[in-house]
Amino acid sequence: MTRLVMISNRVIDFGAASQAGGVSVVIYDTLARHSGFWFGWNGQVEDSDVPETTVASEGGHTTVTMPLTPDDYNDYYLGYSNSVLWPVFHNRLDLAQFEAGYYSRYVAVNEKFAAHLAPLIEPTDILWVHDYHLFPLALELRKLGIENPIGFFLHIPVGPAQAMLAIPEHRALARAMSAYDLVGVQTHRDLRNLIDFLQQSVYASLLPSGRIRALDSELDIGCFPVGIDRQDFIGSQIVRQIESPEIERVIGIDRLDYTKGLPQKFRAFGKFLEENPEHRRRIVLSQFAPPTRESVEAYADIRAELESLSGAINGRYGELDWVPINYIHRPIPRNELRDVYRSARVGWATPLMDGMNLVAKEYVASQDAADPGVLILSKFAGAAEQLRDALLVNPYDPNDMVQALRTALEMPLAERIARHKKLAEVVNKSDSKKWSDDFFTALVKAGKRRLHRQPSARVTEAMRRLDAKSKKKADAKPAVAHVGG
Ligand code: G6P
Repeated sequence: MTRLVMISNRVIDFGAASQAGGVSVVIYDTLARHSGFWFGWNGQVEDSDVPETTVASEGGHTTVTMPLTPDDYNDYYLGYSNSVLWPVFHNRLDLAQFEAGYYSRYVAVNEKFAAHLAPLIEPTDILWVHDYHLFPLALELRKLGIENPIGFFLHIPVGPAQAMLAIPEHRALARAMSAYDLVGVQTHRDLRNLIDFLQQSVYASLLPSGRIRALDSELDIGCFPVGIDRQDFIGSQIVRQIESPEIERVIGIDRLDYTKGLPQKFRAFGKFLEENPEHRRRIVLSQFAPPTRESVEAYADIRAELESLSGAINGRYGELDWVPINYIHRPIPRNELRDVYRSARVGWATPLMDGMNLVAKEYVASQDAADPGVLILSKFAGAAEQLRDALLVNPYDPNDMVQALRTALEMPLAERIARHKKLAEVVNKSDSKKWSDDFFTALVKAGKRRLHRQPSARVTEAMRRLDAKSKKKADAKPAVAHVGG
């Protein structure tokens, strides 16, 4: 039986619901439909040069995890992944810190992951690698003789080529990408940026088939917008205005990250209260912002900025019995999310740049179709390519933000229902199952193409299995959005 091996930097502890974020949830959901296992970091930092892997099984899911050493944690995770790749891919070159030693440790951790993973791989396994921490993994696995199909999905956006080319190791990254059979991104914007980057960094060319030739490889690239599992968000009996009938809730749920546009949101909220005094005492902004990556300076800065902004707005407009911004520094347990979304008249997601933003989709899925709330969404979130019936805003423009909030709060029921209906259709159709099925099918095909180009005795069995698999999937719609096709 073909196994699916999911590999990501962070593997969540299934018992700790509060750890769940977008990437982990979709990996978890996908593995519920496939046999296989999930490999990656267990979230622990341990001072051992020969880390042990731990195999655990719970609820039909198997994980194989290992700790990072303090140096790995500093230079690979906080350093190269989150102080170089994260800011640059989000087009924040100003926040990138190109420190000596980061890149070599980044490659070393990928080598270490490959060395622990390779012995666990069977010839018919399909390998699916997730996110920017692990670009070099396929190259390292190939060096160890792994010939299985290996796909890569990037959950974050791809920055404009001009930003990407500022990464000193950009050619090595492009080379690492070209070792995959399939590279998937969230949106057409990302696909364009990725092609542009590969063309400019390693003179890649687009083939008439829509595939990419980069260095000595040919790979498929495609756009696979990630979705949610709607079942997690339906069925709530909660009615809005649960606490106080006079107060409307505006909800924001974001990791405390500088890409999420939280200062812009807080400032816009202050401006809204200033310009619309009739709404004072009638709305509350509940912003959940669980802190992450706090040892990275830019994250400490954003935390301080938000504390000061929320304090200033609450101090200026608050009353003894009304606090305008509820700023909460912890995650919401996943089983409470739906009710929280449903209790809110407005969902406000205004990232400055975001791969997808699943919060926007979760908010839509949680609404009561007979009395839905309104989604305000940044046009720079990947989700905006699909959720065209949200109120799309430019988070850099305070007037646009204020106007959208007013429109959302005053929107008549008929318009709310009509917009929600269209949004819900998209969210339901493009769900997490479609995302993983599409990527998986495309990866099987891409892997087969590579094996046909490079036949060898070792891969005959794998080809036979892949043929059988793709026959089964023959009716499935092709998932790869070939460029030029
Ligand atoms: C984003 C990234 C994920 C990452 C998550 C949480 O969604 O795309 O790869 O796991 O943030 O960040 P953390 O650094 O805590 O794993």
